[in-house]
Amino acid sequence: MNWEDSNNILNIGIIGAGFAAGVHSKALKSIDCSMRQYIFDVNDEIAKRFSDEYDCKAAKTLDDLFDSVDAVIIATPVWTHFDFVRKALEHNKHILCEKPMAQSYAEAKEMCGLSEITSVICAVGFNYRFFDITKSLQNEIKNTTVEEIHLSIRRLFRNDWRRDETSVLSDLGIHLIDLLSILSGGKIDVDCCKTQMKYINACDYESIVKGYTDNNIAFCLEAARIDNPKDVRFFVQIKCDRKIIKYDSRTMQIYSVTEGGKTQMKSLSNEINKEDFFDFYDSIMLQDKEWVAAIRGKNNFVVASFNDGYQSQIALDRILQLNDSR
Ligand SMILES: NC(=O)c1ccc[n+]([C@@H]2O[C@H](COP(=O)([O-])OP(=O)(O)OC[C@H]3O[C@@H](n4cnc5c(N)ncnc54)[C@H](O)[C@@H]3O)[C@@H](O)[C@H]2O)c1
Repeated sequence: MNWEDSNNILNIGIIGAGFAAGVHSKALKSIDCSMRQYIFDVNDEIAKRFSDEYDCKAAKTLDDLFDSVDAVIIATPVWTHFDFVRKALEHNKHILCEKPMAQSYAEAKEMCGLSEITSVICAVGFNYRFFDITKSLQNEIKNTTVEEIHLSIRRLFRNDWRRDETSVLSDLGIHLIDLLSILSGGKIDVDCCKTQMKYINACDYESIVKGYTDNNIAFCLEAARIDNPKDVRFFVQIKCDRKIIKYDSRTMQIYSVTEGGKTQMKSLSNEINKEDFFDFYDSIMLQDKEWVAAIRGKNNFVVASFNDGYQSQIALDRILQLNDSR
């Protein structure tokens, strides 16, 4: 099918008209103009405001939305994801489900099972894969033996529904769990890791997970919910047999590579937007572009799949259990 033909416009529905929806809507608009956007939110007023701001059509009901679109982006709180995925699959719609994919690995497993009996494209919103630094790190570690990976993220949470301890791991930590799998080429060995959840100060939580991957790479993942915008940070350090690569988002464009006692400063290829959280918008834009291209049959599937979401969820559930029994 030729999607660029004006009769073949791609219709995309966004479910949930909050923060993530706005970023996706803007990103989709910048990709190409042969797309039409629809929005659905449980709150009509929020949907109306969103449709005015992002110039898209508000669907009155979920059924109306499914009648109008080819694909959906699920951008609602996690406890709604399973039902929306199930309904979207019943309607044979392509899906991009925001992270975390599900509330538990059992739910994620069922979602994978349901998707396998359809031929639609099912993706999970692990957009950190599309950070410019992720690409640079992947290139730097090619042909080396990775020994240690340290990933750390500190972010503000705007939503009240996320203000609990576990959301630090499930909302933020899940990105790191996925990145770890991409950078290590392995999975977290859940029988070989320790987790600690602590207050950094009166209202900020931090969760630290340390352990080994099943291909014997030591790791440390730190995810923190912070209230002071000045503390927002993304940090990576990878130790290989021959070099150490370090990136701190506070240095914006620059990362360092230390090899043979010498440190070289290198620059990321794309400009980091100072107004944004690090490379956030661009990563969503690149991810959504790949998802749309996959729907149009124009590329190999490079976005995170439902199975990737499921694998991360297995590790997350186990880490949360370890935390409960601390
Ligand atoms: N990929 C990322 O880095 C990233 C960043 C932010 C948020 N997210 C994810 O996006 C999702 C939404 O987060 P957010 O920050 O946009 O939240 P938000 O609170 O800003 O927006 C959620 C919207 O969903 C609507 N909603 C709630 N229940 C609904 C239902 N049953 N039916 C229809 N609409 C419903 C709410 O009215 C609200 O407008 C979450 O899964 C979150 O983890 C991902």
